[in-house]
Amino acid sequence: MGEILQSIRVEFTFPVVFTEDVFAPDNPAFVRAISRLEPEKRHQVYFVIDAAVAAAHPRLVDSIRAYCAAHAPSLKLLGEPRLVPGGEAVKNDFSHVMQLVEETNRLGIDRHSFMAVIGGGAVLDMASFAAAVSHRSVRCVRLPTTVLSQDDSGVGVKSGVNLFGKKNYIGAFMPPFAVINDSRFLATLQRRDTIAGMAEAVKVALIRDRAFFEELEANAGRLAQGELDPLRRLIRRAAELHMEHMRTGGDPFEMGSARPLDYGHWTAHKLEVMSKHRLRHGEAVAIGMSLDALYAVKAGYLALPVAERVLRLLETLGFTLWADELLSRDGAGQLHVLNGLREFREHLGGTLSITMLRDIGRGFEVNAMDAERIVASIHALRERAAARVPVPIRSAAG
Ligand SMILES: NC(=O)c1ccc[n+]([C@@H]2O[C@H](COP(=O)([O-])OP(=O)(O)OC[C@H]3O[C@@H](n4cnc5c(N)ncnc54)[C@H](O)[C@@H]3O)[C@@H](O)[C@H]2O)c1
Ligand SMILES: [Zn+2]
Repeated sequence: MGEILQSIRVEFTFPVVFTEDVFAPDNPAFVRAISRLEPEKRHQVYFVIDAAVAAAHPRLVDSIRAYCAAHAPSLKLLGEPRLVPGGEAVKNDFSHVMQLVEETNRLGIDRHSFMAVIGGGAVLDMASFAAAVSHRSVRCVRLPTTVLSQDDSGVGVKSGVNLFGKKNYIGAFMPPFAVINDSRFLATLQRRDTIAGMAEAVKVALIRDRAFFEELEANAGRLAQGELDPLRRLIRRAAELHMEHMRTGGDPFEMGSARPLDYGHWTAHKLEVMSKHRLRHGEAVAIGMSLDALYAVKAGYLALPVAERVLRLLETLGFTLWADELLSRDGAGQLHVLNGLREFREHLGGTLSITMLRDIGRGFEVNAMDAERIVASIHALRERAAARVPVPIRSAAG
């Protein structure tokens, strides 16, 4: 009889490196990251690559081979670099996880070998999960290739894939061994993906850093054009803020219910699934943030001109702040998107906790949202969007 109160502390330390042209033979970033804990050892590295990245950078695979050969005392390439489809599809089909897990078995990848993953947030989420569950986690080095994955997901501790039509239903918390953000990759992104990735930067500015928000406002025109200099600054600061939040927020593995980094995400996750992933994550987040800003006005938390400012920045960056899915209804006539609140609470496990804005740079948590106010906010967003879209002119014939 009796009780022993166990308490365990584990510290994770990992570098996030900002560089350019990571596999140029004389760039030390990658080999240094891998050798950080055991500089004398020859490390086994298995590469997983987003197929769209390999296609857009046709010399990538050869330059990885050449890099490993140039650093042969420290690096041993395991197997052939494996290409996996990019985008949300790779998170919707669990067989991709199993294939990577099988590869770790076939190649004898142990807990001291590395999986190096190059790709967008979707490929990183899927492959980091496969790494996290193989041998209860093999070391994973992430090389994010999109704006979103460089400024947010790649520097975080989460991995996962979709199941039961729900985002990230199955996944793991496992910090990476290292993260290397190479700005070269950004040059080949579609404009749409460049813009989508900026949503998470706006998000983290809104909840934590007013000065950063103002910098984004000042650079919005150049950012919308995909100019690399302001984009690098955006990524650097947003990554820093995400990391700072995880380090100091007191809940890096999200044991509690509050999730300030998920501002705007309760709608976003639902919209992504409802749109069958026509909407990118960042695009859905921009809509979700706008809806919650308008809701905050109706609830008396936020002044209307401040909400207007948030929506204006998003529009200037190139976001469309509307999706028809917001109006789709279930059999009982209720807006589908409202189920997103319930699913979000289930995902948090426990009480509903939604981040709202009091001002730019100041987020806070609420434990309930009013359905009628949400519906009114959806209509306000709709009216705003309709006012921006030129009305088609009907011919006299009708
Ligand atoms: N783990 C987390 O904490 C976290 C946080 C935010 C978002 N996410 C997840 O990240 C995913 C979205 O990631 P994303 O926005 O990076 O999009 P994505 O991974 O879907 O990539 C978008 C498209 O760009 C392609 N691509 C990637 N890099 C490229 C490059 N350099 N050049 C040309 N094409 C390239 C991809 O193949 C894909 O077709 C979502 O699944 C979202 O849920 C995870
Ligand atoms: Zn997000």
